[in-house]
Parts: sequence; C-alpha cells; structure tokens
Amino acid sequence: MARLKCAVVISGRGSNLQALIDACATPSFPAEIVNVISDKADAAGLKRAQAAKIPHRFIDPKEQGGRARFESALDEALIESGAELVCLAGFMRVLSAGFVEKWRDKLINIHPSLLPAFPGLHTHQRAIEAGARLTGCTVHFVRSDVDSGPIILQAAVPVVPDDTPETLADRVLTTEHRIYPEAVRLIALGRITVVDEVVRIDGVKPGKTSPFNPVPGD
Ligand code: GRF
Repeated sequence: MARLKCAVVISGRGSNLQALIDACATPSFPAEIVNVISDKADAAGLKRAQAAKIPHRFIDPKEQGGRARFESALDEALIESGAELVCLAGFMRVLSAGFVEKWRDKLINIHPSLLPAFPGLHTHQRAIEAGARLTGCTVHFVRSDVDSGPIILQAAVPVVPDDTPETLADRVLTTEHRIYPEAVRLIALGRITVVDEVVRIDGVKPGKTSPFNPVPGD
C-alpha cells in the first residue's frame, strides 16, 4: 500500500515531529515523512530529521525578504518533495490566506488547547488564569484565521490545583504526541472528510467514541 507523503514544518524543539517520526517508523503506519522544513536554522527538530535520515532544510525568511517570498519558497519545497499532507508542528509563523487556501484540507496543525478555547500563544497560562478545569490539545485543518479550522481530533487534560504553565504544558504535550500521529493515520487511511467545515470520521458513530481512539477495534 502506498503511504501518504507528509511534510512537517517546524520552528523549534520538534517533539511532535519526533512523535510523527516514531509513528512512521512502524512499517504498517500508512504515512511517511518526505521532508522537514524549518524557518529557524537552529531548530532542534532539524537534528531529529537528520538523525532519522529524513530530507530536511532551513528556509531563511530574512534571505527570502518578506512573507510572500518565504511562502513561495516553502510552497516550492513542499511540491518538490511530493508532499500530499503538510503538518505544522510548532511552526511559529502565520501563513497567508492565499497559502492556506492553496493547501486547503491538506494542511493541518496541532494546538495546545481545546479549540476554540485559547487560540494564540500562552495557552496554558491563560487556561490556569481562567480557572479552567480541563484543557487539552487539538489537531485541526488550517484556515486563514489563526488557530481556526475544522477539528480532527482533541484530547482533554485536567488542570490540577498546583499546576504551573510548565507542568500543564508537559501533561498536554504527552497527549499531543498521541493525537497527532493518530490524526495523520486517519487522514492517510482516507477516513477523514470535511463536510460544511465539520470533520466526519468514517467508521465512527457520533457521540459513541473517545476522542483518543475514535475508531474502536481498529
Ligand atoms: C506544541 O505545544 C504545539 O502544540 C504548539 O507548539 C508546540 C511545539 O512543540 N503548536 P514541539 O516543537 O512539537 O516540541
């Protein structure tokens, strides 16, 4: 079976990239990573790609001179690598509406909150300050508004009384590493469709499944 060709676009640490690399290392996983692209030369994720022998490159936004040129270099690199799905994983730039539209329903992101709560930065601090009892993470298709778009998978994580943004971030990150590969797997299997801007997961009865493992018995 042909595996879905994925590119991963990062800016930093790359722990979600690593979760995807690890998932793809299983021969039966229906996706593979064909390219890792960073907008930061010193992103630790580039070393992870190197260690996994995955083609990787840094695209220098300064050298490109402006968002439009950076995005066309990114677009070119993605097309060149044959990517069928683009996974943003800690990529810290806002992509233009034109780029997002070009990759519509082929561009996904992971965000460390239960969207639509807490889009943007400092999500864990904001969840604690709001007194939220639950937070979590979301994998979603990207639309042009920041951290918006059809939700593919979510996982809830409790906020406990002594949490700091750091302890909460660590707990949420562990679940990010579970749902991102699962979302990619479901897309690769062709089980995800977007209907009226809502994701349908083939084989799942609405309301009958856990967000962690939405396809029981699979
Ligand atoms: C993650 O918390 C992700 O949800 C957010 O940025 C962070 C990236 O972490 N978008 P890493 O680079 O994957 O370790």
